[in-house]
Amino acid sequence: MDTGPRDQNTAFPADFAWGVATSSHQVEGDTSDNQWAAWERRGKIKSKDCCGLACDWWRNAERDFDLAQSLGVNALRLSVEWSRIEPQPGVFDNQALKRYGEMLKALHQRGIRPFITLHHFTNPVWFEAKGAFLSRESVALFERYTRYVVTSLRDLCHDWVTFNEPNVYASLGYFLGEFPPGKKGRFMQAARVTRHLCLAHAAAYRTIHELQPQANVGWAQHYVVFKPRRPESKIDRWLCSFIQRRFNDNFSEGILSGTAPFPLNKFGESLPGVKGTCDYVGINYYSRLRVGFEPRSPKTLFFQISVPPHKPQGDAGIEVPYGEAYPQGLRLAVGHFTGFKKPIYILENGVPDRADRIRPWVIESTVDQMRGLLAEGVDLRGYFHWTLVDNFEWSEGWHLRFGLFELDPVTQKRTPRPSAQVYAKLIRETGVLVRVGS
Ligand code: BGC
Repeated sequence: MDTGPRDQNTAFPADFAWGVATSSHQVEGDTSDNQWAAWERRGKIKSKDCCGLACDWWRNAERDFDLAQSLGVNALRLSVEWSRIEPQPGVFDNQALKRYGEMLKALHQRGIRPFITLHHFTNPVWFEAKGAFLSRESVALFERYTRYVVTSLRDLCHDWVTFNEPNVYASLGYFLGEFPPGKKGRFMQAARVTRHLCLAHAAAYRTIHELQPQANVGWAQHYVVFKPRRPESKIDRWLCSFIQRRFNDNFSEGILSGTAPFPLNKFGESLPGVKGTCDYVGINYYSRLRVGFEPRSPKTLFFQISVPPHKPQGDAGIEVPYGEAYPQGLRLAVGHFTGFKKPIYILENGVPDRADRIRPWVIESTVDQMRGLLAEGVDLRGYFHWTLVDNFEWSEGWHLRFGLFELDPVTQKRTPRPSAQVYAKLIRETGVLVRVGS
């Protein structure tokens, strides 16, 4: 019997989306009108790096679309930058939309299916000044922006991601203080932000379907596998299950059940019109973390995240470990969201690994996990590796490198890491259909 690679991969449907993922602020360059650029101007990037030209996509995304095509991917996830499209409240920039239109056409010409994220962490500064998603007005403002974008780009895109990682946005911005606006321990504010994100998502979902009835609309939920640091400790176990629920189910439980985020649900608040507003569930999965109680750590709200040193892991962040590379966890992530009974896309997966020590293993093991899930009948529709070319990693700046290609941000030179060929080979072996000129 032929047990060659093609056979092993027959589990993958011919139209499986094999992609790479990015976001506007991290790749475009000169995105200076959003709250992340303001955060950088306040000296908050831990590496003190500047986003600057990033990967220079605003002028030349096509160079990287060629690289993506050379790997054989048939899908690419990018985000559109709200601060470019609506630089002032209610004032829209047609030139910006024209540029995104060109990018989408360039992708189609290369047989690559675009997935557009409408919000990937960045807000225009005017929106941030109004309180961003803490304010009730955010829901209508996001809906207006969505209407404008989708009206302009609907002929070129069918797959939409409303929000990237609303659970990360709310937790890191309002609870851990790692993201702008840098608030710590504001549990109620984080819950209110999540509530507005759910309402804004549902409004966007309806608007997109009104403009494009056949659209495929969902969002990207970040999922972390948490484990108690000392399994014998009751408090570590309690903390771990608390964080697991509050983080992994934040936002997604609103879409699943229509109930307002804890503790707002205890005060009689609800989420009208939110339940069931997705055509798929998008999962961003990277790592496993240990959670332990740490009484001497009020700065981290008495819990500490760690990774045992002997576990496989990529490069560490400047202040905290990035996480254990744990490809088996993909199964837990997918299992966690089966209650939706919707198709699943892995919208991000990757590892910070400048020297490409473990990335090839991460990619191969993750594809193995997907093969197993498909064989069991899981409706998995796509996988997007984060990322194609090293991009600007938020507070870590250029310190953490996720690219299949290494980038020198000064010369803009790209150099393939061995992983690029590993990924290309796996895609070739699945015999995936590349839809040239579609
Ligand atoms: C985010 C990306 C980020 C990646 C790697 C995800 O949580 O969506 O923007 O670069 O993780 O940390």
